[in-house]
Amino acid sequence: MNNRDIHAAWKYHDGTKHSYWSIRNNPHFLDWANRPLPFKIYPQIESVPLPRDVSQTGVAALSAISEPAPTPRADSLPDLQDLARILYFSAGVTRQRTYPGGEIYFRAAACTGALYEIELYVVTGDLPGLDAGVYHFNPADVSLGLLRKGDFRNNLAQAAAMEPAVAHASATIICTGTYWRNAWKYQARTYRHFGWDSGTLLANMLAVSAASGLRAEIVLGFVDAQVNRLLDLNTRREVSLCLVPIGHTSESSPEPKEIPALGLETIPLSQHEVEYPAMLEMHDASSLESEEEVAQWREKNRILPSSASAGELLPLQPLPEEEQPTDTIEQVILRRGSTRTFDRTASITLAQLSTIFDRATRGLAADFLRPPGTQLNDLYLIVHSVQGLKPGAYFFRREGNTLELLKEGKFRSEAYHLGLEQELPADACVAIFFLADLNRILELHGNRGYRALQLEAGAIGGRMYLAAYAQHLGATGLTFFDDDVTDFFSPHAKGKNAIFLLAIGKPLKRKPQ
Ligand SMILES: Cc1cc2nc3c(=O)[nH]c(=O)nc-3n(C[C@H](O)[C@H](O)[C@H](O)COP(=O)(O)O)c2cc1C
Repeated sequence: MNNRDIHAAWKYHDGTKHSYWSIRNNPHFLDWANRPLPFKIYPQIESVPLPRDVSQTGVAALSAISEPAPTPRADSLPDLQDLARILYFSAGVTRQRTYPGGEIYFRAAACTGALYEIELYVVTGDLPGLDAGVYHFNPADVSLGLLRKGDFRNNLAQAAAMEPAVAHASATIICTGTYWRNAWKYQARTYRHFGWDSGTLLANMLAVSAASGLRAEIVLGFVDAQVNRLLDLNTRREVSLCLVPIGHTSESSPEPKEIPALGLETIPLSQHEVEYPAMLEMHDASSLESEEEVAQWREKNRILPSSASAGELLPLQPLPEEEQPTDTIEQVILRRGSTRTFDRTASITLAQLSTIFDRATRGLAADFLRPPGTQLNDLYLIVHSVQGLKPGAYFFRREGNTLELLKEGKFRSEAYHLGLEQELPADACVAIFFLADLNRILELHGNRGYRALQLEAGAIGGRMYLAAYAQHLGATGLTFFDDDVTDFFSPHAKGKNAIFLLAIGKPLKRKPQ
């Protein structure tokens, strides 16, 4: 079994680290004439338009992002409005801007380079307003393209080794990653971005599903080849990353069906594509090959407690429930957009920071995080200007919702360096670094643990984005010099690896021209 040979994940991770020298010596340049299309277009399939005027849920964003998955009810069946809401607020086009390189269609969730390499598909039984089928979501015209007619939910349930959430779902959304669309800019590092960018999108998807009263969770245990075949993917270009079962039905779906190859035409993304073998190898090595392997993999879940504390502990103090902003999840998603310049003179309050941590880290509903509440990533902070906190480096202890002071000091220039010499993490009020004990995670979950770790980081990061914007703050994801991050937080972080970075602060208000 490939998944247990964890040299593969180490090879990929070490081989795609950024360092001061790797960035300067990389001759890669952006070939604008060969820029990939931002959408997957099937020119010859039947498509079902989705309603654009869907009713809003009215649920406060801060509640929606921290809602545990509702317990299954026999009647939690999404209708076409629910499905349209969930798809649009996860991956729909929310803004459009013209740049010298062309038009950019910004989407509901943050994505590295605005390249939007994550596609969504839906495998559904009959729903009010939609016939059973396998569909592709096209955000360009807000429609579902029909790939296969009929109920294929049991094919998916089998691929997921009869995972109950998938076996009883009314519909399951599948996230895939398209290598070239992101690798055009980021080369082999794109495989990390698959996790980050599907994660931010999943934060929205879980929140909007919860706000719609529908059960949803992330399922990473499935036989890759079976799901890829169901979607008829060319796996050198695009691969399935995770399943999100939505709703619950006690009725059993029909027996699995034959799934012949479809060979559907799609519009080429670019004149020519470059393949990065390191990513294909990483994906192969983290693939699960049989239902038995999926079932065994799922049983491996266990708690990973964080290390004992040594420093001063400061309790987080979230805003009391009645004082929390009540802007709805839809308003906040539409308002969100990564901050391009932070106001270096601004500060946020400890209550605002605490609310972000409290809401974003209550635990994701995911098959790789059991018992519920388990978390793979550890969170470290560089605090520049948070009222009530000394500037310095901190470690977040989830168990007691406290911050442990690691070292006091003003670290704006260090944050500038760690965040790939960008002003954003230096000018923000706080930079949050995600690190993980990669060895332990790989030993537990095999190479699949690498996918889980990156995706979890993206999903927590996505929740932090939403929690910041719900409080009218700004945020941006960032990339980083891997080993320098570990060195900065050591000795506490010794042996851990840097996974993700997010900066939070107040956007600089531009003076009117
Ligand atoms: C994981 C992640 C890493 C990112 N890294 C950077 C970065 O290093 N520098 C930067 O300026 N923006 C970065 N961004 C912001 C993206 O460029 C931004 O999300 C994208 O352009 C889409 O715009 P929007 O977030 O405003 O919708 C990152 C975003 C994510 C999700």
